[in-house]
Amino acid sequence: MSSDLVKETLLTKMKTPSGSSGSKVTIVGAGQVGMACAFTIITQIALVDVLADRLEGEMMDLQHGLTFLKYMKVQASTDYSITAGSKVCVVTAGSRQKEGESRLNLVQRNVGIFKQIIPQLVKYNPDAIILVVSNPVDLLTWVAWKLSGLPSHRVIGSGTNLDSSRFRVLMSERLGMAPSSCHGWIIGEHVPVWSGVNVAGVRLLDLNPKFGTSEDPDKWNEIHMDVVQRSSPPPPSLLLDQLDALNAISSYFSAYKIIQLKGYTSWGIGVSVGVICQAILSNGFHGIQEEVFLSLPCVVGENGINYVVKQTLTEDERNKLQESVRTIDDIQKKLKL
Ligand code: NAI
Ligand code: 2OP
Repeated sequence: MSSDLVKETLLTKMKTPSGSSGSKVTIVGAGQVGMACAFTIITQIALVDVLADRLEGEMMDLQHGLTFLKYMKVQASTDYSITAGSKVCVVTAGSRQKEGESRLNLVQRNVGIFKQIIPQLVKYNPDAIILVVSNPVDLLTWVAWKLSGLPSHRVIGSGTNLDSSRFRVLMSERLGMAPSSCHGWIIGEHVPVWSGVNVAGVRLLDLNPKFGTSEDPDKWNEIHMDVVQRSSPPPPSLLLDQLDALNAISSYFSAYKIIQLKGYTSWGIGVSVGVICQAILSNGFHGIQEEVFLSLPCVVGENGINYVVKQTLTEDERNKLQESVRTIDDIQKKLKL
């Protein structure tokens, strides 16, 4: 029996599947970072790279685990047409630094790579959000924006999301608490926001007025140094060129120890990008996708609602909010209008 016949005997067709789950993510660059992102995102994924063999191998390897995952569909090709219909396009493609190569040269080479990638992504996904991960991330996000012609709010970089996580992990090691209970942010190019560091809303600065400063007897600023430098300094030759003087690509150094030990970083960034993608895909407020009216704190003015306050909710609070949504939505669906 042919597989078409089996399918016909087994299934009653109600509607032709659209081929897109509505939460499709493209990942350009099936290297260490791209694949860690793919593994974390768990949705419909289109993988693109210039290396056809690597792509096929990675796709097959991932596909063999699909039985154990809730929902994941993987396509892979060197042809960008497979990316069509993506909500998010993650760019992890890039070139690594060659021995003796200046950073400016590396960035310039990556600009060349982005010139091949970005117009193709925009051609097939004019409504998607582009999320740049390749380093130097801030510079390449600007490059992607320039090449894309998209409004700036649709081109974002993973920025210091990973560094903030590293900061929180180190903080949690000091306090003996779960990283999820330790809050802190690194912004810009490695600026620690000491004034916002807190546990359960209690600011550490209120407990220790020297917190984060060089006079702090507890030397909390060491955890920031650890995030940014991770023990070993970079080779002196890398410090010389103009871009480093601008501190524009220093995010490289935060992972220096890991790179020394295993050659690259992948899992931390993979999870961090997965969370960003999830936030984009789940959209709306607190992941609410249903068409409902319910109460959230707002700033109202002559135009009606001017702003909705982005509250930070615990998992339990979010679940309860989702319950309210379901209750309202269930009733709405039964109404005849
Ligand atoms: P990798 O070398 O393992 O993978 C790069 C991939 O890009 C390769 O598979 C290569 O074939 C592909 N590629 C190159 N040119 C291409 C093109 N024109 N079109 C499509 N694909 C192309 O590198 P890895 O370790 O995956 O790192 C990727 C990037 O992510 C690097 O720039 C790295 O510095 C950056 N990164 C950024 C982090 C962040 O926090 N923003 C964290 C960790 C890494
Ligand atoms: C990282 O921070 C190398 O930027 C990369 O892991």
